[in-house]
Amino acid sequence: MTEYNKIKQKQEVIHNDDGTITVNGEKHIHGDKKFYGRRGGRTIDGYRKELMENYLPQLELKPSEYSQDPKTWFNEPMDELWVEVGCGGGEHLSWQAQNNKNIGIVGAEPFLFSVGSMLRHLKEHEPKNVRLIADDIRPMLESLPDQSVSRVFLLFPDPWPKVKHHRRRFVNPHNLDTISRILKKGGEFRFGSDHAELVTWTLKHLEERTDFKISVDMTSNEWRTRPDDWCPTRYEQKAVSKGIPCAYLIFTKI
Ligand SMILES: C[S@@+](CC[C@H](N)C(=O)[O-])C[C@H]1O[C@@H](n2cnc3c(N)ncnc32)[C@H](O)[C@@H]1O
Repeated sequence: MTEYNKIKQKQEVIHNDDGTITVNGEKHIHGDKKFYGRRGGRTIDGYRKELMENYLPQLELKPSEYSQDPKTWFNEPMDELWVEVGCGGGEHLSWQAQNNKNIGIVGAEPFLFSVGSMLRHLKEHEPKNVRLIADDIRPMLESLPDQSVSRVFLLFPDPWPKVKHHRRRFVNPHNLDTISRILKKGGEFRFGSDHAELVTWTLKHLEERTDFKISVDMTSNEWRTRPDDWCPTRYEQKAVSKGIPCAYLIFTKI
């Protein structure tokens, strides 16, 4: 039996007719609308503070702009729109922006200390194709027009390992419905994680849908190998340095 089949067997996710899900016999609602992560908690000073005051306002996508045509979010015409959920220190966002100057990228991160780190990365090359939300990404995702996005990145999301906290996970039927709605046909939902049980959870949720197909080979080592067009994030590097295997999943919108 492959490693993938073994982890798949450990979790049973049933989608119930009333919109709830049952995970290993326990009933959950459709994800949780409240935001449970950290926003504050670390002092922001020095260069980070300066960037928060002077550079963030230049990049920030305001809630009043969410309902406007995403094409108006950038000063120059962009070929595609990508979004990154929970950018952390912004290594991936900044790398993608630099390597894809014709793509508009919106990144969101509510933990303000990390936003400071992200601004440091971005300030090094001052991209014209990035907008930031220093907050929960979900209201912006909900406002996006149908089929307006070509890629959604969710890299090393909080695993919320306790069963009673599973409903806080970003991968849940409601958020997947939203991602499915906003993605163009052929668009990608990219997911990375070093948390084996969250990987199983994600595969289960996606495999039960008919609107996505998995585009990495699960029978070879491909899903354990980061693609070249996907740079490492801080959380990934932490996992790799501890010898924890990571999963790199790409789901394509059908
Ligand atoms: C474990 S960290 C990973 C950060 C980064 N992607 C990495 O791989 O280094 C997950 C991040 O997702 C952010 N996050 C959680 N829920 C979010 C939401 N609804 N909108 C935007 N960011 C969110 C958290 O604040 C946290 O910084």
